[in-house]
Amino acid sequence: MNATQEKLKVQLEKAIVAAFGADFAGVDPILVSASNPKFGDYQANVALSLSKKKGLQPRAIAGAIALKLDVSEICEPPEIAGPGFINLKLKTAYLEAQLNDIQADPRLGVPAAKTPKREIVDFSSPNIAKEMHVGHLRSTIIGDSIARILEFQGHDVLRLNHIGDWGTQFGMLIAYLREVYPDALTTANALDIGDLVSFYRKAKQRFDTDAAFQETARQEVVRLQAGAEDTLHAWKLLCEQSRQEFQIIYELLDIKLTERGESFYNPLLPEVVEDLEKSGLLVENQGAKCVFLEGFTNREGEPLPLIVQKSDGGYNYATTDLASLRYRIQQDQAKRIIYVTDAGQGNHFAQFFQVARKAGWIPDDVELVHVPFGLVLGEDGKKFKTRSGDTVRLRDLLDEAVSRAHADLKTRLQKEERQETEEFINEVARVVGISAVKYADLSQNRTSNYIFSYDKMLDLKGNTAPYMLYVYARIHGISRKGDINFKELGKNAVLLQHETELALAKYLLQLDEVISSVEQDLLPNRLCEYLFELSQKFNQFYDRCPILQAEEPQRTSRLVLCDLTARTLKLGLSLLGIQVLERM
Ligand code: ARG
Repeated sequence: MNATQEKLKVQLEKAIVAAFGADFAGVDPILVSASNPKFGDYQANVALSLSKKKGLQPRAIAGAIALKLDVSEICEPPEIAGPGFINLKLKTAYLEAQLNDIQADPRLGVPAAKTPKREIVDFSSPNIAKEMHVGHLRSTIIGDSIARILEFQGHDVLRLNHIGDWGTQFGMLIAYLREVYPDALTTANALDIGDLVSFYRKAKQRFDTDAAFQETARQEVVRLQAGAEDTLHAWKLLCEQSRQEFQIIYELLDIKLTERGESFYNPLLPEVVEDLEKSGLLVENQGAKCVFLEGFTNREGEPLPLIVQKSDGGYNYATTDLASLRYRIQQDQAKRIIYVTDAGQGNHFAQFFQVARKAGWIPDDVELVHVPFGLVLGEDGKKFKTRSGDTVRLRDLLDEAVSRAHADLKTRLQKEERQETEEFINEVARVVGISAVKYADLSQNRTSNYIFSYDKMLDLKGNTAPYMLYVYARIHGISRKGDINFKELGKNAVLLQHETELALAKYLLQLDEVISSVEQDLLPNRLCEYLFELSQKFNQFYDRCPILQAEEPQRTSRLVLCDLTARTLKLGLSLLGIQVLERM
């Protein structure tokens, strides 16, 4: 609900009491956006629900409320329509005043959160020595956008990269590292072992075919857990190598993250199991320590346990998540913890959340949220793969988007007979390519699968990043052409006449509502839809209303609308992690 709606709601509540007495205090006026803009901007539907209680016709009730309703500063006189709707139409002068206000506000009328909270966004979280795949790309893009929105709202956000940097696979990797780089293990502080993924594959092959190697690998796991210096050193080298590869992707995408991998929680794992034991939740099942869950059964319909310590004494993914959850609540003092992963991990989160709740580890004021997302599919509707059927390397994927944007741009420049420097072309291609990938992902409702298509995401028409970047650049084109500095436009200049001006104005004023809905529901596609609609509303205004050629005072007013649209786009896109271009 935006500020205007809140004001209207208060007035409606007062009118209801004035019409029917104090017994009716707190009755919800049921204020919603008008079903049809012809009838106004909002409508209150309360009369229909009060009609039974009062034994009166809804129209009569609506009339009685309207009579007492004081909204003259905001709206035209209310009208009763249909069975008993109270229709409200915003006054043009009110809209003009609102726009004048946001013109002077760097936050464009979006209030910061009244009670800032400590929030954790756990996102990206790839695994060492394994491929950072398109699933991690989605987590990275969606998680970053959520973090940006919460930060903008004034929350204290901890962006955590829960990297998979621990586990039995390291035994095999270290054993193999010892074989191929015997010296490096004791001397080097950094190592270039090339592509870690193929290194992983080779190590796995050795492991699968050689029993002696398997034994060595097992011993390395024991040594790693015991903290043997040379083994730890090898582990660090592997992590460092992976980290460098991840960093390339984060830099391309402009992502900031604090690394706190699974290994960080190692010292806390025994205590998790002990405390579960103390609380009486722990059950031994075939040597493994586990907690039985409600609402989860295996294929045979038997109750399903969550294993927290395997029969060989080892801990697992769930134990680590339980330990990290406690740490985040106790040490980080987080009040909302948001996990961004593929929907396939839904059960994992539901299960360890349940165990933590049962154990009494989650205070009432702490909210745990799993933010799931669907799969990335190829244009054939199947799992996203390269032509040869391999998994797509993220770096290649991003490079490809940029190089396609580069080619598109060159064609366009040729058509427009424009000469631009190589530097300009490269920068525009970079921004367009990366933005296109991010936007294509964010603009889908994250819970559904999405089809990855370079052609669609790079299209200058449609709900794409290039479309919106183009609108932004077009507005800056106006300022260049008219030699206008948007920052120096007169104040209180807004004057709304044309219907496209009014439509744009009303839409500009909805930003705060959209942002607060994303803050709650964590669905960045809502913000994308808003920015897309805004761009379309701007284009309609631009098509119908002359701007630079208009006479004053209309000219300045229209320039203010241009400025506000550009600033809204820039702010909105920045919350999606997308950079704008003044020229493209
Ligand atoms: N490393 C995991 C994966 O690649 C994601 C971790 C998500 N975060 C968490 N706290 N479990 O699937």
